[in-house]
Amino acid sequence: MNRGSEPVDADLEDARMRIYAIEDGAVRAQALAFALKSGLFEVLEKEPLTLTELSARLEIPMRVLPALAAFLASQDLLRLDDATGEFTNSPAASAFLVRSSDSYVGGRGLLFAGFHEAMGHLGESLASGQPWTDAGQHDMFGGFDGDDQRWFAEGMFSNAVHGGRALLRELDLSDVHRLLDVGGNAGGYSITLLQSLPHMEATLFDLPAIRPLAEEQIQRAGLRGRMRFAAGSFFDDPLPTGHDAILLASILHDWDNLDCGRILARCFDALTPGGLLIVTEPMLAEDATGPEHPSVSGLTMAVLGGENRTQSAISRMLEIAGFEHIRRLPMGHQNSTITARKPLFEPAARA
Ligand SMILES: C[S@@+](CC[C@H](N)C(=O)[O-])C[C@H]1O[C@@H](n2cnc3c(N)ncnc32)[C@H](O)[C@@H]1O
Repeated sequence: MNRGSEPVDADLEDARMRIYAIEDGAVRAQALAFALKSGLFEVLEKEPLTLTELSARLEIPMRVLPALAAFLASQDLLRLDDATGEFTNSPAASAFLVRSSDSYVGGRGLLFAGFHEAMGHLGESLASGQPWTDAGQHDMFGGFDGDDQRWFAEGMFSNAVHGGRALLRELDLSDVHRLLDVGGNAGGYSITLLQSLPHMEATLFDLPAIRPLAEEQIQRAGLRGRMRFAAGSFFDDPLPTGHDAILLASILHDWDNLDCGRILARCFDALTPGGLLIVTEPMLAEDATGPEHPSVSGLTMAVLGGENRTQSAISRMLEIAGFEHIRRLPMGHQNSTITARKPLFEPAARA
């Protein structure tokens, strides 16, 4: 029988297309990053435009714009009005890719576009088990200059707002009055929490270079009275004290086990006795079957020098650092959360 005449197995055909999408991943990511940088989504948010008008407005040549528009439309990010020939943003693009939207996640796309050169070395990292570092850079943060910091902060911020909303859904934080957001960057988590929890104050602790970015966001959120920035390194400096909760959001996964131990020891020392530690970041299923987002982010961390861990691996670290009442919340498709408490009394006093 002529194989060409056999009916197509729809599941297998879907699988073939999924594999193609993985193979084309770099093209997809670069195209979205270009669209974000060009301002395309902001322009189309104001008014629908034909391709010719869009080409003139954004100075994107007509040789390439139809392919870009077709790709974005195929992902349901743009929609075409057949009657007028005009393109407009889809609801998803309006919600997530227009900078002024409070659900904006485009910063994350720009952040990852900045990692593409490093990601070209993923194969080496997977073969050697070692991170790939740029020009002898000790860690992924050490080599950032001003522009990199801004892209990174924007990417982190847009992602952190969604993380903060997830924390509000999964945790009762009514008992927390003073939060220390360790490695809090420009404050996406803390700002989101404080906006919903008027009784809470927060300190952002991060590297000195982050201060202007954080101050800008605190000011924009109108939270000057309830939020402050403290500069330092969690490897070299003691953390600010007097907080009844510490948040570690996407911090442990940046570092190896030894460095995680150093960070957790600082958190333990700084936290008020009985205080709450919240660890939230992408975590892998115990049996290494996913979820998709943490697994992809885990591959990113393989190149950059960190590691996405399982909930049991992180719980063990918290136990070793001296925390108790370790509670694993249900696994999330993006981040998962573990909480723990610093004992109310020193072990000797308890005995
Ligand atoms: C992956 S980001 C997480 C940011 C934020 N917690 C979030 O989830 O959006 C890691 C943060 O750790 C900060 N960081 C890196 N090294 C640090 C150090 N030695 N001391 C304090 N913060 C540091 C970075 O500047 C960055 O803001």
